[in-house]
Amino acid sequence: MSVKCHTWLPFLGQEIPADLTAPADIARFELEQGGVKASLTVEPAMGEGWQIAKTEDGYALRGGESGVLYGAYQLLMAKQTGAEPQAESAPRYSLRMLNCWDNADGSVERGYAGRSLFFEGGKFDYDPARMRQLARMLASVGLNVLCINNVNVRFPADQLVNTWLPELAELAAIFRPFGVRLMVSIDYSMPMRYGVDTADPLDEDVAQWWKDQAEKVYKVVPDLAGFLVKADSEGRPGPFTYGRNHAEGANMLARALKPHGGVLVWRCFVYNCQQDWRDLTTDRPKAAYEHYAYLDGQFEDNVILQIKNGPFDFQVREPVSPLLYAMPGTVKAIEFQLAQEYTGQQIDIYAMPPMWKEIFDELPADNVQAIAAVTNLGRDDNFTGHPFAAANLFAYGCLAWNPEIVPEEVIRLWAKLTYALPADQEDALVQLLMGSRRTYEKYTSPLGLGWMIYPHHHYGPNPGGYEYTPWGTYHKADRNAVGIDRTAGGTGYLLQYPEELQAKYATPENCPDELKLFYHRLRYDYVMADGRTLIQRIYDDHFEGLAETQAMAEVLAGIDLPSPDREVAAERMHRQLHNAREWCDIINTFFHRLSGVEDAQGRTIYL
Ligand code: GCU
Repeated sequence: MSVKCHTWLPFLGQEIPADLTAPADIARFELEQGGVKASLTVEPAMGEGWQIAKTEDGYALRGGESGVLYGAYQLLMAKQTGAEPQAESAPRYSLRMLNCWDNADGSVERGYAGRSLFFEGGKFDYDPARMRQLARMLASVGLNVLCINNVNVRFPADQLVNTWLPELAELAAIFRPFGVRLMVSIDYSMPMRYGVDTADPLDEDVAQWWKDQAEKVYKVVPDLAGFLVKADSEGRPGPFTYGRNHAEGANMLARALKPHGGVLVWRCFVYNCQQDWRDLTTDRPKAAYEHYAYLDGQFEDNVILQIKNGPFDFQVREPVSPLLYAMPGTVKAIEFQLAQEYTGQQIDIYAMPPMWKEIFDELPADNVQAIAAVTNLGRDDNFTGHPFAAANLFAYGCLAWNPEIVPEEVIRLWAKLTYALPADQEDALVQLLMGSRRTYEKYTSPLGLGWMIYPHHHYGPNPGGYEYTPWGTYHKADRNAVGIDRTAGGTGYLLQYPEELQAKYATPENCPDELKLFYHRLRYDYVMADGRTLIQRIYDDHFEGLAETQAMAEVLAGIDLPSPDREVAAERMHRQLHNAREWCDIINTFFHRLSGVEDAQGRTIYL
């Protein structure tokens, strides 16, 4: 492995020979490279699970086809960290997906780690050795489905299921031995470019066209995981054009995939992005539930509804999407975003496991049957732009395998595997990462409001940026109050939840501080549980967020990271400090100008 790239697989010295194509053979090779003695038994009935027992001179590893590979990586990680491996494990979800938002032209939508790993100049363009390295990284944390192209499918990316099939097959062959199946995003209106005069899902010609196309695809890539679809969302085509609902729309495609064992992953990120801000009857977070909940039980069994973790769009703080509590008769996947679109763009440090834990503390893990995340990957040497963003990818794999992971343990494991730091520095790094989300939250938008960002690129503070836009993302701050009442007496959003959750958030007094302004419109002189006024809490959080970032910079400077991670992290911290200062000053000035209330501690708020 090149010294330019520190990953959590430092124990793997050598590239895997291309002629190893069975997961068990790769497992043997990896174990040998890592100096771990283990006998391997493949028991297909064990699926992806594995068991490890100690023997006289090493270990006995049993597992299903890819289970043995997952188990082998566990053995290697245990050796690397000096821990004893777990005795057995099996994944909670059978589909553990990564969604790449890579475009055929080589750009990556919301990509913060360089250009696409797969495409450039309107065609496939990748380094096979790098692909194998990526496949290894994914397998080492048990990720098993990789959707390689953006959900916003633009020509020529639609050719992935057409003229690019031979190249798709070549790429699939690289990932296959690692138990990673490819998936592709498709364009719902595609039949119309091939002589069908509609994309109406109930039209027989449309259904037949997709059936034929699926047959062509599966002839070439027989284990393709399936299709991913963004329909009727942010300008994408979909069944609404023909007066059809999304069960009708999804089922047509699902039937085309079914004979081949493919799944149809259908995203529920559907809302009106042309909203009139004057319209008080529409509340964007209500949209997904309104579009889907009533369709429960109407989807084919190979349809998976992919639902973003929150009802808006990956803000630093959102409630769990109410749709994730609904639709008991439908297969659902929760969707996270590793790409730090709204969470610092892989410039600011933002470790996600504490956020995921909060989500799964509130959402029973069995409410979903699959898990997906938008990747944070790109062509940068270190794959993720910020070297610490790799911790999110690593931890996501662990979470997809077992949603009950303990954030600090997983972050520590990543740190140990990636950098062999002295214990005090390792602690410092783990604590820095563990606190990074809370700090970011403090210096950005307050108490669950979200969206005070620059439109389009979504980095940096702009409190009025989305206020009178068609995007449905408003805070409505005036001189007295801020936030939106989403309770029964307001937009009624809260009524989409089961009753226990309604009770939790219904009154400003009960509602946890972090979401107070998501659910309630509060006056600046509203007194919080700790005795501070709302406006004072806003000022305090922002000053604290900035101070904490300054403290993070000092801690970071004291950690002896290997080069080039040290330089990359230091340069990004410099930009994070600038960002935190901008946020702190702009948000505080914004609220000070509106409210006219002075900071009780007399700190500088610019006029
Ligand atoms: C966000 C993001 C878009 C993306 C969309 C999606 O709105 O800004 O770039 O296409 O989410 O999830 O489809």
